[in-house]
Formats: sequence, C-alpha cells, structure tokens
Amino acid sequence: MDIIKDRPIGVFDSGIGGLTVLEKLYEACPHEHYIYYADTKNLPYGEKDKDELVEIVRKIFDFYQQQDVKAVVMACNTSSALVYEELADDYDFLIYPIIQITAECVADMGFKRIGVLATTATVESHAYLKSLVEYDRHLLVKENACPLFVSMVEHRKEDYDEEDEDAIILEYLDPILDFRPDKIILGCTHYPHLLSKLRRFAKKNLFLNPAECFSDYIKKDLEKAGLRKTYGVLRTDFYVSSDPQMFKKNASVFIKMKDLPELLVL
Ligand code: DGL
Repeated sequence: MDIIKDRPIGVFDSGIGGLTVLEKLYEACPHEHYIYYADTKNLPYGEKDKDELVEIVRKIFDFYQQQDVKAVVMACNTSSALVYEELADDYDFLIYPIIQITAECVADMGFKRIGVLATTATVESHAYLKSLVEYDRHLLVKENACPLFVSMVEHRKEDYDEEDEDAIILEYLDPILDFRPDKIILGCTHYPHLLSKLRRFAKKNLFLNPAECFSDYIKKDLEKAGLRKTYGVLRTDFYVSSDPQMFKKNASVFIKMKDLPELLVL
C-alpha cells in the first residue's frame, strides 16, 4: 500500500540559496526524503520576467509530480513572488511559498517597521509589502533590491574581493538602515549566506532569516495534515541543471554532500 507520508518533499531554488532552507528543514523534519533541485542553468531568477519564470518553474513542478512528492517547498523568494499564484491550483501536492508564509509569521511578531532586502524581481513585484500588510495593515515596509548579492554568493572568491563586497553591501543596506527598521528580512534565500558580512554593518539580531519560521511552519503544517514522517533516516537526492562539480564545491561550504548531484536539464 502506498503511504503518502513516505513520499518525498521537493525543495528547489536557482542555486545554493535554497540550502539555507534545507538545513533548517533537516532540523525541523529530520526523517524526510528530500529532492533538492538547483536550477543553476537559469540563475539568476531575480533578473527574469514573470512569463519566463512561470515556464521554468512549471517544468520543475512537473518533475516533482513525476517523482510523486507529497509537498514542494519553494525555497526561492523570487518564484514565490512571481509564480506561486499562477501554479498553485494546478498540482495535487502541498505547496509552500516562502514569502507568503514568512509574511504570516512576521506579522505575528509585533514589529512596526520592516525592511526587506530581495532580488530585483521580488522587489518590483512588492510581494513582501503586499503579503505583510495583508496580515497587518499598520506595518511600514521598505524594500530594496540587491542585484549583485546572488552572484556574490555563487561566485564568491573568483569575482569579488573584500573591498568590492563592502561597497556593494553598504550601497544596498544604507537606504534600509536609514528607514530605521525593527527587523530586516533577508528576502532571498541566498542572502543568509552573507550574514557574517552583513553583521559587520548592523546589529546581529536586526536580520531575519526566513528559513527558521518557514521550516517551523512546514513542520507544523505537515503534522496537521498527517503527513510528517517521524521514522526512518534522512535522505536527500540532489539534482542540478548545470555544472554538478561547481554546485558540489559551492554547496560543501554549507552542507555535507557525499556524491555529485545528478545533472538534470528540464
Ligand atoms: N534564491 C532565490 C530567491 O530567494 C533566487 C535568487 C536568484 O536566482 O536571483 O529569490
């Protein structure tokens, strides 16, 4: 008999950003079978338009459908902003979009002024602003796009020295600090990889990594649906749409990977 609880969970992003979510999912739901798809061939998502991204993410969802997943975690803010509503009703599995769920959690935390750092596409969509004020219409929100952060994470040493990085961080961070926020949401899953650098310019606890409340929400929601696996060994199958060696090298700074990810172009 097929037990739905035993089916895998899809987790995807354009690259290593989604690993910031995956590592928190490992803590929250340590018995699951994850299928991580890193769409590095199409990176950066944050510079794409909506139609392009809908087409790309539909193929990822179709792949997950073939894998018979019980849920898909959109560990990518840009696709949650631009694609979630387009595809939400087309699939039978549970879908967890990071922005919409983070907004629900943050609106409950009692802040008055929220800063958001995110990709160009996410900021232009105002998905954070819209979702946050849906839960708390008194919240003041300021969003700022950080177009170079994703490439700083994916191509670290090769393209940027410390001085370049500091100048870029200050350019993006300053307008948000001027707004005097209670919290700054790292609204792209790549950005928590930059936390140690960001903390040189602002108080450590000013930044919010959505992966924490997001994974906690997913744990509770799977539980509620009777779909959380509480037995068995954690397993992750990794797929990448270009250069498996490079992905393994970049990912290994953050996560242990025994084997090379499988190359899969959708
Ligand atoms: N990490 C993704 C996000 O959360 C996508 C970044 C990109 O590819 O531009 O938005």
